[in-house]
Amino acid sequence: MVSYKELGLVNTREMFKKAVAGGYAIPAFNFNNMEQLQAIIQASAETKSPVILQVSKGARNYANQTLLRYMAEGAVEYAKELGWEHPQIVLHLDHGDSFELCKSCVDMGFSSVMIDASALPYEENIALTKKVVDYAHQYDVTVEAELGVLAGVEDEVSAEESHYTRPEEVIDFATRTGCDSLAISIGTSHGAYKFKPEQCTRDPKTGRLVPPPLAFDVLHEVEKKLPGFPIVLHGSSSVPQEYVDIINAHGGKLPDAVGIPEEQLREAAKSAVCKINIDSDSRLAMTAAVRKVFDEKPGEFDPRKYLGPARDEMKKLYMHKIINVLGSDGKAE
Ligand code: G3H
Ligand code: 13P
Ligand code: ZN
Repeated sequence: MVSYKELGLVNTREMFKKAVAGGYAIPAFNFNNMEQLQAIIQASAETKSPVILQVSKGARNYANQTLLRYMAEGAVEYAKELGWEHPQIVLHLDHGDSFELCKSCVDMGFSSVMIDASALPYEENIALTKKVVDYAHQYDVTVEAELGVLAGVEDEVSAEESHYTRPEEVIDFATRTGCDSLAISIGTSHGAYKFKPEQCTRDPKTGRLVPPPLAFDVLHEVEKKLPGFPIVLHGSSSVPQEYVDIINAHGGKLPDAVGIPEEQLREAAKSAVCKINIDSDSRLAMTAAVRKVFDEKPGEFDPRKYLGPARDEMKKLYMHKIINVLGSDGKAE
C-alpha cells in the first residue's frame, strides 16, 4: 500500500472547491507515454495550473501500471525542477470499470479514481459506486462517478447512443453514493467524431461541420439540484481543424472529424463544471506533428526528431487549453 501523499500528489477535493467558486475548470489530460507527460507538466508548470493526470485502463495495459505510477511520481519532482514550487498534481484513474481496478489504483498511489458504472442500471450504478467510495475514502482518495451515457467509441470506452443525465436523479445519486464529483452527459462524447454529419449543419464558407450546441439546460438543472457540487465533462476535445488539415495534408484520412467548440467549454467552465477531460486533441496534435516530419523528411529515423516536435505541439495545445479555454492558469501559484 502506497499513499499518494508520500508521492507529493493531491486529491481533487480542495482543487474542485476552488474551481467551482472561481468559475474555472481543472484540465484532466490523459497520458500514455513520456512525451505526453512531459508536455503536460511543462505546460502546467509554466502556467502554474493545477492539473489532473489521467490514466485509462487502456493506458495501463499499454504502458504498464507500475511504470505510469512512477512516472507520475517523477512528474512531481520534474515540476519542481521546472520552478513550480508547490505543484498541485492529481493522479486519476479514468473510466475505472470495476471495484478491483479502482482498489488496485488506490493501493498503488492514485489520489483519485473514477468508477464508471454509467452503463449499468441505476441501482447497480449506485451500489458499485458506493462500494468504491467506501474503500477510497478510507485513504482520502476522491471518487468521480457518472450518471447518463456518452455516445462515441474509444478503445475501452464505448456506447452507441448517448442518454443525457436526468437531473431528477442527481440528488439521490450523490447522497446515496457519497461520490466527490459527478460526470454528466450533456452532448459531449469521446473521440474525434463527436457528431454524425446529419446531426450538424455546414458552414457555407468553409464547408466545415457545425455541431449542435451542448444541452446547457440539463447542466443548469443539475446545478440547481446540487448547488456547488463538482461536475465533470468527459469527451471535451474540440478537434482543432488545423490539426485535422495537417494530418489530411500529410497522408492521413480524417474526414469530417468534429469536436466541441471551445467557446462552449469556456462557458461550461464558468459553471459548476470543474473538470474537463481532453485526450483526443493531444492525439491529434501528436499525429499532426509526426506525420509532417515523416512526410517532409522521409530519411528521418531518430524518434527524438519526430517525437520532439510532437511534444512541442502538445505543450502548445495544453497551454492554450489552460489559458484560453479552462481558465486555470495561475490557480496553483
Ligand atoms: O475516455 C477515454 C479516453 O480518451 C481514454 O481512451 O481508453 O483509448 O485510453 P483509451
Ligand atoms: P476526448 O476524446 O474528447 O478527448 O475525451 C477524453 C475523455 O473523456 C477521457 O476520459
Ligand atoms: Zn471519458
